[in-house]
Amino acid sequence: MPDQATLNHAAQVIATISADQRADTALRFYFERHRYLQPPAKRGISRAVFAYFRWLSWIDPKASPQKRVEHASTLQERFVADEKSVKPEALAARAVPPWLATEMELPADYLRQLQREPALWLRARPNRSFALAKSLFACERTERAPDALRFTGTQDLFKTEQFKTGEFEIQDLASQLVGHAAAPVPGETWWDTCAGEGGKTLHLADLMANKGVVWASDRNLRRLDTLKRRAARAQIFNYRVAPWDGSDKLPTKTKFDGILVDAPCSGVGTWQRNPHARWTTTPTDVRELAATQLALLNRVCGSLKPGGRLVYSVCTLTRSETTAVADAFTTAHPELDPHPLFGDGPRVVLWPQEINANGMFIAAWIRKK
Ligand SMILES: C[S@@+](CC[C@H](N)C(=O)[O-])C[C@H]1O[C@@H](n2cnc3c(N)ncnc32)[C@H](O)[C@@H]1O
Repeated sequence: MPDQATLNHAAQVIATISADQRADTALRFYFERHRYLQPPAKRGISRAVFAYFRWLSWIDPKASPQKRVEHASTLQERFVADEKSVKPEALAARAVPPWLATEMELPADYLRQLQREPALWLRARPNRSFALAKSLFACERTERAPDALRFTGTQDLFKTEQFKTGEFEIQDLASQLVGHAAAPVPGETWWDTCAGEGGKTLHLADLMANKGVVWASDRNLRRLDTLKRRAARAQIFNYRVAPWDGSDKLPTKTKFDGILVDAPCSGVGTWQRNPHARWTTTPTDVRELAATQLALLNRVCGSLKPGGRLVYSVCTLTRSETTAVADAFTTAHPELDPHPLFGDGPRVVLWPQEINANGMFIAAWIRKK
């Protein structure tokens, strides 16, 4: 059980969270105002805040913030000690909002996974994962991705020498699998249309071994600035930034070997890591985002070379944003064929309980020659 000071801090954080603010943003602001807090204390407060949102439907909304935070931590501890203590029916009724059942299957093992604390994944630079695991100590490898390491230690990774010198990125395993699904080849030209802070741009560039180029677009220029800083730290140079607001006016007339649309989405696949979003995301968000996703795919697919691959990824599992978007796009574009991923079908659903990471949907097409 967290100590009283941790619970008090956590209670203060939840009292500051408003409808349009994410829990992790509230935590960041809180830590900026309480600079004396050391990393172990911050970790404890964050865990208590996330436990609060994970168990929100179990606790009395009329109790004081302290009591609510304390109750949530007790429930989290009880669950860790004996996961079967929470019945599948209770999980189905309380771990997620009721509307989710209209958008996806809710298997019991998925709901149980949502109540666990999330794993932390690193992506080592190509062929350096063994050395990195040795130097960081608490790392576990996975067969699913060659450079992925699950970090089980407690040190502040951002302060490590290995991070400062670009030996690794913090990147969820599901996101790493998007890079492997795209499978760019050295010398190709790719376009990461929704590059954000560059998690996948850097991975594509790494997979291309500094040969060829990745164009990185986003409508958020601040995120693209972060991308540039990350690329500099990782000493990645085979990319270029081309802001794009998602409109019909494309940033370039270049034809690409590959295009990645890592589209804005409801983020349902991240609800284990970001439990607050379970209670702020709405069916309207899902509907509007699905329309945006299809529009983005429609706008960029003309920029593929004959034989070029289009990869669509979203960290969500709702039908509207996954199969429905892929079906509508396939129907509207007979000039593209669905393209196998990982030597299998053209669509992959990554479930959190199967990979111990975010949920993700990936689909791919290839432009006919
Ligand atoms: C899922 S995030 C991208 C994450 C990023 N690819 C990564 O791996 O770190 C989606 C991105 O799409 C951007 N975005 C949202 N709406 C957009 C639009 N209409 N056109 C272009 N980018 C958009 C957001 O700014 C956000 O950075």
